[in-house]
Amino acid sequence: MIIAIDGPAGSGKSTVARRIAELLGFHYLDTGAMYRAVTVAALKRGIGLEDESALAGLARAVRIDFGYRPGEALPSQVLIDGEDVTRAIRLPATDEGVSRVASLPEVRSALVAQQCALAAQADTVVEGRDIGTVVFPDAELKVFLTADPKVRARRRIEQNEAHDIGGELDRRSAYEALLARDEADSNRAYSPLAAAPDARVLDTTDLTLDEVIARILTWTAEIRKGEAQ
Ligand code: DC
Repeated sequence: MIIAIDGPAGSGKSTVARRIAELLGFHYLDTGAMYRAVTVAALKRGIGLEDESALAGLARAVRIDFGYRPGEALPSQVLIDGEDVTRAIRLPATDEGVSRVASLPEVRSALVAQQCALAAQADTVVEGRDIGTVVFPDAELKVFLTADPKVRARRRIEQNEAHDIGGELDRRSAYEALLARDEADSNRAYSPLAAAPDARVLDTTDLTLDEVIARILTWTAEIRKGEAQ
């Protein structure tokens, strides 16, 4: 079974997707981390973000792996060609460049192929922007999470602080950066951020994490019951 969780930054996708995967014993795939990893590799190698063919070549050539810390059920490390970039993928410079990298069709097709291969191995919760629309249009459950932009900016800051990246962005710039990224991700020509027509849209602004989880677990149970009949 594939559970697709799409939505803008700070909508709660990552926390929700990880928790659902833990509770159901599914694998978890963070596709945003893959676009971030390619961005980090480009910045480290001095590849200009305007150099479309070099970025496409990079996306095809690099190896992205997800690593587990001892005792963890779900991966929390991201490695690119064996190098741990877990922290680097969350830095403001990566935030700034990633929408550009993710807008390139050839980068996307290289990463989508890897995403399909990774999630084909087991029941997986896959989070991203185009999972329900492009990567897994036949996913059994598609969830599209939304939330008020100010709430999303606050969550993103808290997430960064959890990754020990706090203090590098003040709240106002975090909010502006998030709006700019939403705008770029929603308006790009190729695979924009969008809810699939058959996605279940959930506004998480006034919901607790437990309420969101409960809603998704109920949907999953309904779908499994339907499939069993
Ligand atoms: O979810 P995130 O903030 O880590 O995603 C990082 C960037 O990658 C974001 O700007 C949108 C892009 N992205 C995408 O275009 N398609 C995906 N499936 C996942 C992320």
